[in-house]
Amino acid sequence: MTPADIAAFNPPADHLAGRIILVTGATKGIGRALALRLAAHGATVILSGRSVKKLEQVYDALIAAGAPTPAMLPLDLENALATHYDAVAEAIGATFGRLDGLVHNASLLLTRTPISHYDVPTWCRLLQVNLTATFALTQVCLPLLEQSADASVIMTSSGVGRQGRAYWGAYAVSKAGIENLSEVLANEYEHNPAIRFNTLNPGATRTDMRALAYPAEDTTLLKTPTEILGAYLWLLGPNSRGHSGGRYNAQV
Ligand SMILES: NC(=O)c1ccc[n+]([C@@H]2O[C@H](COP(=O)([O-])OP(=O)(O)OC[C@H]3O[C@@H](n4cnc5c(N)ncnc54)[C@H](OP(=O)(O)O)[C@@H]3O)[C@@H](O)[C@H]2O)c1
Repeated sequence: MTPADIAAFNPPADHLAGRIILVTGATKGIGRALALRLAAHGATVILSGRSVKKLEQVYDALIAAGAPTPAMLPLDLENALATHYDAVAEAIGATFGRLDGLVHNASLLLTRTPISHYDVPTWCRLLQVNLTATFALTQVCLPLLEQSADASVIMTSSGVGRQGRAYWGAYAVSKAGIENLSEVLANEYEHNPAIRFNTLNPGATRTDMRALAYPAEDTTLLKTPTEILGAYLWLLGPNSRGHSGGRYNAQV
């Protein structure tokens, strides 16, 4: 598969049948569109987000679409403590006994500011949500992923995580951090081809976060979240088995 083939991947309706996949930041933007598409391909989606009300709206959309009954997992990644992460793993274990997919999609951008003026509390919030929470949630989910016959973890990156750029501050650093975290995990699990870890850069996509970064942009020129999901489907399904430690792009 070439990078373009992966980005354009368009599998059959049963591609993810029977798989249990957790998506963080499932309340809007790419995460919401992804949750709906995964369910359309047969996955049971565990919807995670910080707002119960917004999670209920996505839950209802999935039920209305005739999807496998999803689960809701309220979790505020900025304020979650070790006990919350342990409770998450216990709840998934008790309900499903395993996890076949984990998509770290939730993220903050907050501000674009030169490092000389970057505010320390903002830096800490951003690294907490984008990097430390990704580590903590992955860590508690590892035993559940180990119960899967074919598990895939995606950490959502960005162009500025692969090459730092002025004014992107803690956001860029957090994305570079998850690129490295994913590679560390891929290396640690080399002995176990049943679990893969990869990063995926969605590329410019028409969402609230993109509008915050580029407020003057003509948004009609951007792909919508539903138009960039091919690589997610490839990474979460059986075709990508054995591909671990990679850096992928949703738009080529
Ligand atoms: N859009 C792009 O052009 C672009 C480009 C490169 C990379 N990305 C990456 O793609 C991913 C999705 O971005 P998007 O554009 O879809 O962004 P978005 O529309 O702003 O959605 C971000 C999601 O993260 C959730 N979130 C934020 N803080 C949270 C917290 N403390 N706890 C739990 N959830 C939290 C949001 O929940 P609420 O609904 O509660 O706010 C929302 O569901 C991100 O990782 C982003 O960095 C996007």
